[in-house]
Amino acid sequence: MARGINGVLPIPEMEFRGNFDTFGICRQPRTPSESLLMEISIERQPLEKVSADALIVPVFEGRTEERFGAAELAAQGEVSGKPLELTLLHHPPGVAAGRILLAGAGKPDKFTSADMRRLAAAAIRHLRPKSIKRAALALPSGYDGGDFAAAAVEGAVLGNYEPDRHQTANDKKAVQNFAVVSPGGAAGIEDALRQGQILAEAQNFTRDLVNEPANLMTPLKMAAAARDMAQQFGLECQVLEREEMERLGMGSLLGVAQGSAEPPALIVLRYRPETPGAQAHLGLVGKGVTFDTGGISIKPADGMEKMKYDMAGGAAMIGAMRAIAQLKPPIPVTGFVPCVENMPGSRAQRPGDIVTAMSGKTIEVINTDAEGRLILADALVYARRQGCTHLVDAATLTGAVVVALAHLNVGLFANNDAMRDRVLAASRAEGERMWNMPLEDDYKEYLKSAFADIANVGGRWGGAITAAMFLREFAEETPWVHLDIAGTAWLDDAKPFSAKGPTGVPVRTLVRLAMDWKD
Ligand code: BES
Ligand code: MN
Ligand code: ZN
Repeated sequence: MARGINGVLPIPEMEFRGNFDTFGICRQPRTPSESLLMEISIERQPLEKVSADALIVPVFEGRTEERFGAAELAAQGEVSGKPLELTLLHHPPGVAAGRILLAGAGKPDKFTSADMRRLAAAAIRHLRPKSIKRAALALPSGYDGGDFAAAAVEGAVLGNYEPDRHQTANDKKAVQNFAVVSPGGAAGIEDALRQGQILAEAQNFTRDLVNEPANLMTPLKMAAAARDMAQQFGLECQVLEREEMERLGMGSLLGVAQGSAEPPALIVLRYRPETPGAQAHLGLVGKGVTFDTGGISIKPADGMEKMKYDMAGGAAMIGAMRAIAQLKPPIPVTGFVPCVENMPGSRAQRPGDIVTAMSGKTIEVINTDAEGRLILADALVYARRQGCTHLVDAATLTGAVVVALAHLNVGLFANNDAMRDRVLAASRAEGERMWNMPLEDDYKEYLKSAFADIANVGGRWGGAITAAMFLREFAEETPWVHLDIAGTAWLDDAKPFSAKGPTGVPVRTLVRLAMDWKD
């Protein structure tokens, strides 16, 4: 294959040209996810006048809703305002909309923008299968600032997502228009709506990437998807291939890649602000294992199909860069996504192999299934050599983080308190829950190797922590946060406010981190 300038990988033309697919990965042209086509608008008329197929009206606990002929339902207790309670009224009197969907919002003093996001998502998911095309949501007074408006849009776009790209039935249903009704219309509300739409679309873009099965989302296909996105939104994209990685000494990444017939790729996406408002340079590093069999330390067959999601950290970085390209934060941001397939081929690395990372550290590979940290080690070192002053990585890194935090919190590890606080503040603002975990020198003990500088696993206990400790050896002194998203990047069962499958976490947090950056 011909090599481009600077190791930029030329994507084979036959495979990708003349193809209007979002990712350029299927033979037939396919339409992008409907959730990326939703039209968002603001409606400044009084809510009685809004013409929509359905008007979503939040109702609070303890505040009886008497409009729309709902007094009786409220009196009988059918409408209580409890969180996520949904009641659909047909032909409501005195309004232009065809239906009113009363949406429980819970106690008024507890209602946050995160609750608004869930309410809007659950409402849209309720309306979607009923072939409703035009929905509107009335912002309650007192909850009509930009943060609530943005959260409503995010909820609508996220709730409209279904991981059904590969189902061929043509009776797919999706809401096409979503309006936020705000007759008062807080200052800057249009900007808030636009931000919310960009964030949620980026998150759904990530979900589409994660949802692709591993036969259609190989490392090179992931690179092609990143390159298409970069072209569309004006980012610089470079893809390092195997020879370039060999030249750079990325022995840790290449050791994982060698068991697969699919060549590895290291995707680099660069955003530069026109007038930089920051000294810092943020690096976003995401694990891109397009399929994790475990390698020679092979995983059990049961549930292995889920391991197509092992590139969710990398997909989140590509999605975050998509939103960053549009929202243009003041700080330069570069995304790094090492992509490999972890396979037990005849060339696969073996337990006991010793590899040398780009930093020069030697690693004893005790378990080939601890591959995420091996590819991230080289990517973190590369990101620092490329000038990143601050780093965040996201990875579906350990089953142990699921034991520790279940599916509700991202495991957060940091080598720097200020950086930790920045990421936690962004995660709180965006309603993506994260929990700070310990990272102390004493844990290094567990990673001792008799034969190399460090072992790639740390034994049975504290598996999420020892994995993070391993990464810390390669982040060194650069302020860095590691997000273990193994428990949160995939929903095993649908929720009222979300489809089953990829969640797109932590795209919103990463974009918020860049947008709010102050040196
Ligand atoms: N991709 C997995 C993490 C994972 C495991 C996510 C199970 C969800 C469910 C990662 O590469 C892995 O296999 N980690 C091992 C590490 C172990 C060998 C030290 C794990 O967590 O079991
Ligand atoms: Mn693994
Ligand atoms: Zn893995």
